[in-house]
Amino acid sequence: MTPSVSARTFRVGIVGCGAISRNHLEAFGSLANVRIVGVCDIDLDRARATAESWDVPNAVSTVGELLDLGVDIISVCTPHPTHEEVVLQAAAAGVHVLCEKPISTDLPSAERMTAACADAGVKLGVLFQRRFWPGAQRIRKAIDDGTLGRPVMGQCSVMLHREPEYYSKDAWRGTWANDGGGVLMTQAIHYIDLLQWFMGDIAEVYGRINSYKHGAHIEVEDSATAVLTFTSGAMATLEASTAVSPSLGVQIRITGETGASASLTEFPEGSDGRLDLWAVGETISTEAVHPAGVRPNVDLASINGQLIPHHTSQVRDFVAALENGTEPAITGEDATKALRILLAVYESSRTGVPVRFAAVEPPDITGRHSAPEAPAVQLTSRTAAAR
Ligand SMILES: NC(=O)c1ccc[n+]([C@@H]2O[C@H](COP(=O)([O-])OP(=O)(O)OC[C@H]3O[C@@H](n4cnc5c(N)ncnc54)[C@H](O)[C@@H]3O)[C@@H](O)[C@H]2O)c1
Repeated sequence: MTPSVSARTFRVGIVGCGAISRNHLEAFGSLANVRIVGVCDIDLDRARATAESWDVPNAVSTVGELLDLGVDIISVCTPHPTHEEVVLQAAAAGVHVLCEKPISTDLPSAERMTAACADAGVKLGVLFQRRFWPGAQRIRKAIDDGTLGRPVMGQCSVMLHREPEYYSKDAWRGTWANDGGGVLMTQAIHYIDLLQWFMGDIAEVYGRINSYKHGAHIEVEDSATAVLTFTSGAMATLEASTAVSPSLGVQIRITGETGASASLTEFPEGSDGRLDLWAVGETISTEAVHPAGVRPNVDLASINGQLIPHHTSQVRDFVAALENGTEPAITGEDATKALRILLAVYESSRTGVPVRFAAVEPPDITGRHSAPEAPAVQLTSRTAAAR
């Protein structure tokens, strides 16, 4: 008898056995209709140790060997510049791929990856597990059901702490060639994704980057600011840093066209984003953003460990999409949107001018056909010069 679609078991292979692989092993391992059949790492000893710890039957050192095990899904947990090669190999073998963020570090590469998966008829999902926070889902719902309505203003503050050793322990971290960027590419990308998920398509980005604390040992930025304009006419500010000590965590605040606002805080880093401000109608509820006694600087293993439930939600969604023949919650195209925004911050910082992607769609969120123009002002002191 042919098994029903829901009775199918998916064979999974995990590529890259470093820090985040535990989240994938736990997440896939928790699903009844999945069997992890192999792990792969260019460091074969690491792959073997992982296989032994997690009771996975095969440990290999190349993606080709993993594909030869007859996998249905490959989960990509390797450094940023290797994502494309692994995804293209999987697509060529007709295997579905769930890839860690960032999809890639440049747009042509991200486009090649999405095109290869589409051409091969395989699904490509990209990890942005914070979209599965209940708090983030509640903001998305409040936008859709009119409680907030269309966002008009947003704020995204990613003020984190990293020790210099974070960058020095792995050769690929902190370089343009291998990491592809600093705080924007590695940490803030999660929250830029949330911001654009809430606020819609990007129209313009003006930004600055700098390196205040880690400049002596990394090439990339440890800090960034940006002003973002969306095609709806909505505006947002972004600040991001790994030079903050102690860490202030992350906050995202959205104000909608109804005037209502909601704010989400992740503090300490890795904990569930919780709604700490909900200001709707005549009522406002708040809770302390930095509760006393909470340790602000958290080590990487605890950050990653706390994210496992949300990795599990996204992995479950991905497997369900394969079962049902639907699209996963976060596709390659979706994941490219956050990449496009942060790359524009780099470009704007380099050129000193905004990057314009699209015009604000008329009528914009103000209900007018153009944003209000400010009167011209004099920016130098002629009075002083005339004296
Ligand atoms: N979603 C999240 O919250 C989250 C958190 C941490 C890391 N990440 C992402 O996960 C990815 C991996 O990060 P990490 O911190 O686990 O890195 P890591 O350096 O700890 O581990 C990477 C592993 O990949 C192996 N590797 C390198 N190239 C390979 C190749 N071509 N084939 C097979 N194995 C290869 C390395 O030997 C290493 O064991 C990155 O994209 C990172 O941004 C995501």
